[in-house]
Amino acid sequence: MAAFPQLVFSGVQPTGNFHLGNYLGALVKFVEMQAKYDCVYCVVDMHAITVPQDPAELTMHTREVTAAFLASGIDPKKNIVFNQSQVSGHAELAWVFNCVSRLGWLNRMTQFKEKAGKDRENASVGLYAYPNLMAADILVYRATHVPVGEDQKQHLELTRDIAQKFNNDFAASIERLGYGDAFFPLPEPIIQGPATRVMSLRDGSKKMSKSDPSDYSRINLSDDADQIAQKIRKAKTDPDALPSENAGLSGRPEAENLVGVFAALQGVTKDDVLKQFGGQNFSSFKSALVDLAVAKLGPVGSEMKRLQADHAYIDDVLRKGADRAREIASHNMTAVKDILGFVR
Ligand code: TRP
Repeated sequence: MAAFPQLVFSGVQPTGNFHLGNYLGALVKFVEMQAKYDCVYCVVDMHAITVPQDPAELTMHTREVTAAFLASGIDPKKNIVFNQSQVSGHAELAWVFNCVSRLGWLNRMTQFKEKAGKDRENASVGLYAYPNLMAADILVYRATHVPVGEDQKQHLELTRDIAQKFNNDFAASIERLGYGDAFFPLPEPIIQGPATRVMSLRDGSKKMSKSDPSDYSRINLSDDADQIAQKIRKAKTDPDALPSENAGLSGRPEAENLVGVFAALQGVTKDDVLKQFGGQNFSSFKSALVDLAVAKLGPVGSEMKRLQADHAYIDDVLRKGADRAREIASHNMTAVKDILGFVR
């Protein structure tokens, strides 16, 4: 297959309660990647409306996620930062992919089954077709690398299947128009390891989630120093002292989570953390974790709040990002139209 220039694309849904799990799982990675790649980071507001949304909250959450991007250190001049609905190429290519993708493929998507629950008849068509839109997000830029969480791996595989089928179905047209043997790359997932999978502070077997009814289950990026300290102090633990090696964490999900959070915030391994804290009880470890979390997250949280309040600035970043994104997307959509045989 032809070589494609390396390009990173990722999307984040504009849902409220942006938390430590999102930060360590996605944003820290996004920030790292900008040193090595050209990156396109998108607030996927069109994905959000696959389930009911309050319009005022959708606006607010779009600005909140954008502020979180910027406060974490994503540079909107070097990278493209924008919201999906401002670039019509996503919806246009999603329609084409609705016609490339197969019912049998979508029927296998586990996230749809989870989200639709028992009342599947009442789920939106958009929720069902969500993975086709996600494929369009990535491929409308012909992106080659996609940082995502473990839960999105299946959607990435579907994206590759769609790209491959498009390349095969239209091979003659693609070749004739001078694109060689493939128009779309098969994008590679960059999966975050379990080290950055942050669990609930109340139950180490559940993922930290924005929808957990207990606010004590998560640290929100918008929490201030007092809230961070309180939540860590109240976090569930077990009665034993910390082990001195990683192996000693097995079967102790809450201990493992807190050690993992410490390691991720400090940028070291869990073994490094245990070398330092092995044999100590939780209260001294928690004090150190509070200091570290406040030092690392405090500035991000306050910068995020400051930015979030500046609607004019945030909206301007999104608009300028959308202008740059649209240029690439419409160039590629013109090619797709020619490949399909659409008159223009
Ligand atoms: N589905 C992703 C999630 O829920 C969000 C998303 C939408 C995305 N489009 C994308 C992620 C494209 C990566 C690439 O986390």
